[in-house]
Amino acid sequence: MVTVLETLAEEYPAWWVDLLGEHNHVGGVESTRWLLERARLQNGDLMLDAGAFIGAAARLAAGDGVRAVAADVAADFLKAGRQLERGHDVTWVAASTSRLPFKDGAFASVWCLESYLAPRELSRVSARKATLCLCCEVPEDSRGGVESFIDEWAEYGWELAAHKTLTLEATQLWRRCEAELVRRRPFFEPRYGKRGYLRQLDHVAGLLQQYERGGVGHGLFVFARQG
Ligand SMILES: C[S@@+](CC[C@H](N)C(=O)[O-])C[C@H]1O[C@@H](n2cnc3c(N)ncnc32)[C@H](O)[C@@H]1O
Repeated sequence: MVTVLETLAEEYPAWWVDLLGEHNHVGGVESTRWLLERARLQNGDLMLDAGAFIGAAARLAAGDGVRAVAADVAADFLKAGRQLERGHDVTWVAASTSRLPFKDGAFASVWCLESYLAPRELSRVSARKATLCLCCEVPEDSRGGVESFIDEWAEYGWELAAHKTLTLEATQLWRRCEAELVRRRPFFEPRYGKRGYLRQLDHVAGLLQQYERGGVGHGLFVFARQG
């Protein structure tokens, strides 16, 4: 049976849709669970999944009695997410993270996983004692280190509560993605078009190179605000 994700991948040819899966970030569902265990969410709390894709994190949180909102610039992703497990327990909002249509301090926990990070806007919609959950790239030692990333969030009132390094996992994942794109070229090239295929392959190869040179790392972060 063709799944909702497979149908979406047919309509939206992109390497990360094809290769990263439902929990579309480094570490997959295990990363989502790691963050959920530390997000301090209580029954009935409002949680925002910004840049949600098909809202895997929002739907998982909704299963715990959280009032989850999934936002993404691409309405098609949200439509697909609504059809998946617990999709009807989530509120779906088409919006860019750079301009979120929510009130100041609306959310008890704000998430942004492998998507566009807009520190001021994500901080604006966070409540006084909120948590902020991130799965993202960070500078490595040669670029100021993870400390510079943590310091940047401190300027918005966030204190680090938990951190897990995923640099090795990310490097291995990008390596697998690159190998898969090359190995299955006869499948991907007609899907993405010749130039599209080469562009996507270049993107993944460039990403991998940055990791291998030690310029970029990856991690999970839970920040908390003291109120
Ligand atoms: C790699 S996916 C990650 C999806 C999801 N957070 C996850 O971890 O499963 C990146 C998503 O970010 C969305 N996105 C990119 N730029 C955005 C922006 N400025 N505002 C909102 N969503 C954005 C894309 O449409 C895509 O769905």
